[in-house]
Parts: sequence; structure tokens; C-alpha cells
Amino acid sequence: MNDYLIPNNRPLEHRIISIEDLPHLRNFSCGNHSMDFFLQAEAYPSHIVRDSSTTLVFYQNQIIGYYTLQHTPLSSLINDPDISKEQLVLDIARLAVHKNFQNKGIGIKIVNHILHMAIQLNERYIVLDALKEKWTWYRDHFKFESLFEVDFINGSSFVTMFMDLYDQDLIKQYYDE
Ligand SMILES: CC(C)(COP(=O)(O)OP(=O)(O)OC[C@H]1O[C@@H](n2cnc3c(N)ncnc32)[C@H](O)[C@@H]1OP(=O)(O)O)[C@@H](O)C(=O)NCCC(=O)NCCS
Repeated sequence: MNDYLIPNNRPLEHRIISIEDLPHLRNFSCGNHSMDFFLQAEAYPSHIVRDSSTTLVFYQNQIIGYYTLQHTPLSSLINDPDISKEQLVLDIARLAVHKNFQNKGIGIKIVNHILHMAIQLNERYIVLDALKEKWTWYRDHFKFESLFEVDFINGSSFVTMFMDLYDQDLIKQYYDE
């Protein structure tokens, strides 16, 4: 049996998806058919027209995870006339870890990497649609908050979640001085 343990000191490699990766994508399986299908059939075409951005995560030259990011208008999530049509949010559109590598802390590492990028890009909001069975994972490990109570009432398969990177203390510190 294979030992899939990842030594703590071995960094994962994040590489933007490329045409050379396409033949290898069919080996990726995360246990969710729709996530696998997206990677195999849609991620690259969407990437090259710059609708979304997919990054593959490698361990010893094997694809063990991927994530897809895109910018989405905040107004498409929240129906509020005060929200400018131009305000964009960073959307974690897809995130998956190969089923043989799950529950080893790789998903947490990937999300932390995305959070660092979002801070560097000075994004205001990060959003995602968590599968119902995964929403507490985002809440407990990263403090994402659910956005709509109705997601818990209407039997939806997803919970829309968000994180606000706005730092009130920085504003206060600057304007109070
Ligand atoms: C969701 C997913 C990306 C998580 O990646 P992962 O590498 O398996 O997760 P990690 O190993 O980093 O995190 C596991 C930790 O979360 C905990 N956990 C697992 N499921 C959880 C849940 N539903 N709620 C709260 N905590 C959960 C585990 O106990 C573990 O905690 P610990 O680190 O304190 O022991 C991965 O399971 C996956 O690809 N699933 C299939 C596709 C999918 O569902 N994508 C997400 C769509 S929203």
C-alpha cells in the first residue's frame, strides 16, 4: 500500500495550468465528479480566455490539488442599490484535493496560500460557494462566514460564504492621528 504522508518540510508546488498538463488531468480524482470534470474539461479553456484562473498543486510531480479563482461582481451576490456594479470580489470558484491526499492538511495549506495572495492583492472580500457538507470546514479553519441564512432553510446544496479583509483598526489609526 502506498504511504501518502506528506513530510511537513516538503513544500507543495503551485503552478498555473498549462497545455502540457491536459493529458495528466484525467488522473485527478477528488471524489466529487463535478470538480473532476471541471478540471478535465473546463478549467483550461476558461483559463486561456481569462474568465477564471486555475492553479495546479504538485507534490513530487503529481497533481494533488487545484484551485480556481475569479473575480465576481459583488452586486451579483447582494441585491443592494448602494453597491457599485464595479465592486469585484475574489471568488474561490473551485478547490479540490486528490482523494488519496485528503485529510493531511493540504486543503488548509492551499486556502492559506490563497488568503496570502488576497492580502497581497489587497482584496476586500473573498467569497466561495461551499458544498453543504464542507461549510463548517471553511468556518472552523479560516473564519469564513455564511452570507445567506436562506442557504440553511431551502435545502440548497451550497452555502455562500465570505471573508471581509477590511481592517477597521488601520482606518481608525490613520484618521485618528
Ligand atoms: C474539501 C477539501 C478541499 C479539503 O481538503 P483536505 O486536504 O482534505 O483538508 P485538510 O486535510 O486540509 O483539512 C482537514 C481538516 O478539516 C477537518 N474537517 C474535515 N471535514 C470537515 C467538516 N465538514 N467540517 C469541519 N472540519 C472538517 C478534518 O478533521 C481536519 O481537521 P484537523 O486538521 O484539525 O485534523 C477536500 O476534502 C476535497 O477536495 N474534497 C472534494 C472536493 C470538495 O468537496 N471541494 C470543496 C468544495 S466546497
